[in-house]
Amino acid sequence: YVIGIDLGTSAVKGLLVNQNGKVIQEVSKSYPLIQNAFGYSEQDPEIWVEQTIRMLAELIDVSEVDPEEIEGLSFSGQMHGLVLVDKQGRLLRNAILWNDTRTTEQCRSIDDRLGNRLVDWTKNIALEGFTLPKLLWVKENEPAVFERTAQFLLPKDYLRFRMTGVCNSEYSDAAGTLMLNVTEKRWSEEICDCFDIPVDICPPLVESDQWVGTLLPEIASRTGLQPSTKVFAGGADNACGAIGAGILSEGKALCSIGTSGIILSYEEKRNRDFRGKLHFFNHGQANAYYAMGVTLSAGYSLRWFKDTFAGEESFDELLKEADRVPIGANGLLFTPYLAGERTPHADATIRGSFIGIDTSHTRADFVRAVIEGITFSLNETIEILRKEGKSIPTIVSIGGGAKNSSWLQMQADIFDVTIVGLQNEQGPGMGAAMLAAVGCGWFGSLETCAERFVQPSVEFKPNPKNVDKYRELFAVYQRVYEQTKDLN
Ligand code: XUL
Repeated sequence: YVIGIDLGTSAVKGLLVNQNGKVIQEVSKSYPLIQNAFGYSEQDPEIWVEQTIRMLAELIDVSEVDPEEIEGLSFSGQMHGLVLVDKQGRLLRNAILWNDTRTTEQCRSIDDRLGNRLVDWTKNIALEGFTLPKLLWVKENEPAVFERTAQFLLPKDYLRFRMTGVCNSEYSDAAGTLMLNVTEKRWSEEICDCFDIPVDICPPLVESDQWVGTLLPEIASRTGLQPSTKVFAGGADNACGAIGAGILSEGKALCSIGTSGIILSYEEKRNRDFRGKLHFFNHGQANAYYAMGVTLSAGYSLRWFKDTFAGEESFDELLKEADRVPIGANGLLFTPYLAGERTPHADATIRGSFIGIDTSHTRADFVRAVIEGITFSLNETIEILRKEGKSIPTIVSIGGGAKNSSWLQMQADIFDVTIVGLQNEQGPGMGAAMLAAVGCGWFGSLETCAERFVQPSVEFKPNPKNVDKYRELFAVYQRVYEQTKDLN
């Protein structure tokens, strides 16, 4: 067996997987966001560690699998978060997460100092969510913390450090820091020099399937795992989501709707250039890349709506309500900019809107508008990919948005592509388990592992009539940003 651990934004989820890719047991443990000021989003990294230990102990306990038979484990993690530790490896402050938007000023100063060189070196532009602006924010606002920093780590790299005692990062997550030279696969000394960041606070880099250590005795005894369990580096959650969905060759693309939502396309050419219009990151497969656009509040918009306006109803019940409403939600339109937006606007201050509210509207119309708005936002990335000459015949869809067949059909109709679902879809945790499986030597490559582990299920074909209707509505949706951006 192997274990895939997905350190998400709202919970840590563990999958115990056998050699056929079958999930024997899954357990998840949640934790809160700390949002103390406008745009702030933090978490206490020790909660990740504690909840992971509890999750693993329960996973071993309920599965009744002999821990001796668990050969290895690996990680998937929320990207970009900044964790700072001192020389003794002690935490210096809470982690500042990917959806924290306090760093607009730092992004501006990165642009001013580096201009086009930033995209040349990192393939990406300065966005509030990325790690470098967060590090600069700490340097400017909490200089004592910055002074004591011996190492910065990404969320799952901190968790792995606490479980093994070994500090590493790997390329797929390092790519989201804005400090990695993505194509040369090295920390950018040029960027560190420019901002007076000692380059030795950047952790050593390895490949995602690399064996980096074994479990510390204390972690082994608290979880019930053997201390000899092999620990592999793992990858960014979007890279792992792609691996777990078999997005491992040119022409393949992914839609994943979790707290955030992404459209991702596999890129084999390292010189492929989107000039920062899309993120361009290293994949968890060696020497491969992906281009990606991000909707910051995807599943989060629906959760916000449910928490604010629904009673005891489940997501399923709300989605059923929405299904009875015709395309276009009877004239109601939603933009999901609850916490700013990344693609295509790169605007941390824009906020969401409902437009066209009528006395006849019911909650069902609002739910439908929310789901359509999230999907329109994801379609903006598909538009960019198409304009850049990418042909996208099919998209594999995973995450919360893939659990409901009406939403999958809506994706097919709005994106105008065939949407493919997966059997027993498990998201990024499965990608992490696959990295452990390849690391343990069960398979020669992620591709051969995917042949065994990843099984497509239903297909949703675009319905031409719906495609036309959505195209008209999407044109209206696209106009809303310009009309509302000055209101804040
Ligand atoms: C990607 C991003 C999010 C997080 C969610 O750039 O910020 O998708 O990875 O965990």
